[in-house]
Amino acid sequence: MSTNKTRILAIVNQKGGVGKTTTSINLGTALAAVGRNVLVIDFDAQGNASTGLGITRPERQLTSYDLVVDDVFLGEAVLHTLVPRLDIVPGDENLAGVETELADDPHRSYRLRDALRAYLSEAQARGLTQYDYILIDCPPSLSALTLNAMTAANSVLVPLQCEFLALEGLSQLLRTIELVRGGLNPDLDIQGVVLTMYDRRNNLSDQVADEVRSVLGAKVYNTVIPRNVRLSEAPSFGKPALLYDYRCPGSEAYIRLASEMLQRERSLRSA
Ligand SMILES: Nc1ncnc2c1ncn2[C@@H]1O[C@H](COP(=O)(O)OP(=O)(O)OP(=O)(O)O)[C@@H](O)[C@H]1O
Ligand SMILES: [Mg+2]
Repeated sequence: MSTNKTRILAIVNQKGGVGKTTTSINLGTALAAVGRNVLVIDFDAQGNASTGLGITRPERQLTSYDLVVDDVFLGEAVLHTLVPRLDIVPGDENLAGVETELADDPHRSYRLRDALRAYLSEAQARGLTQYDYILIDCPPSLSALTLNAMTAANSVLVPLQCEFLALEGLSQLLRTIELVRGGLNPDLDIQGVVLTMYDRRNNLSDQVADEVRSVLGAKVYNTVIPRNVRLSEAPSFGKPALLYDYRCPGSEAYIRLASEMLQRERSLRSA
């Protein structure tokens, strides 16, 4: 199916290793599996989303760097993945230089937004894929790249690892979202917070989950992503966990997350 309204989600947490890329890949795959057209934008110099979706280095001819620095048309940089309906704009180490290269550009925070607008306004006329979801996999910082992603996005999806001090990082992130709303993107919403690497044998996981829910209430998804080794094995095979082992608890959780997200969007639309 295809709707004429593309939802652009920035997958953000300035803390490293909390599950941003794993969420981008597997939520993207789960949404594609239920018929949505999905584009992942790898916006991190580590290029982990590209690797995890099986895109080799030589295949990364044009990357998200070229969109934001050289005004390359997004359609030129899109690659298909092995997942039907899931495309990617790859990322590579050049992204590490974006901050410096755009330092003198007064319009620097709007570069990705403009690249997406240019694509979305021309996609139909040029017969290009009209995406239902665009997921931007952000780097672990609140840098120029993350600001570009938040400026381009309709909403922010926050993967939050169930661990000590998770909330401290969250309050800094919420302040940044407020700042972006105050200027760069007044319409920016919080899509939701998804608890990741949940370990039910660990009391701390429950404590963190309770605390986060008491602060953010309904913004926290009921679906929790468990700690599951299959999720961490899959990228070394260049596959989403949903293709590597679709019945593992991690894959099942991402399928539930996708349906919860779709359900929430339906109830918002009908409200
Ligand atoms: N639910 C999970 N269970 C087990 N391992 C996980 C889970 N989620 C992610 N991982 C693993 O933890 C590591 C960090 O995950 P991921 O790369 O998704 O985080 P990230 O937030 O994108 O990291 P970075 O900030 O470096 O971009 C990876 O090795 C990944 O495979
Ligand atoms: Mg990552």
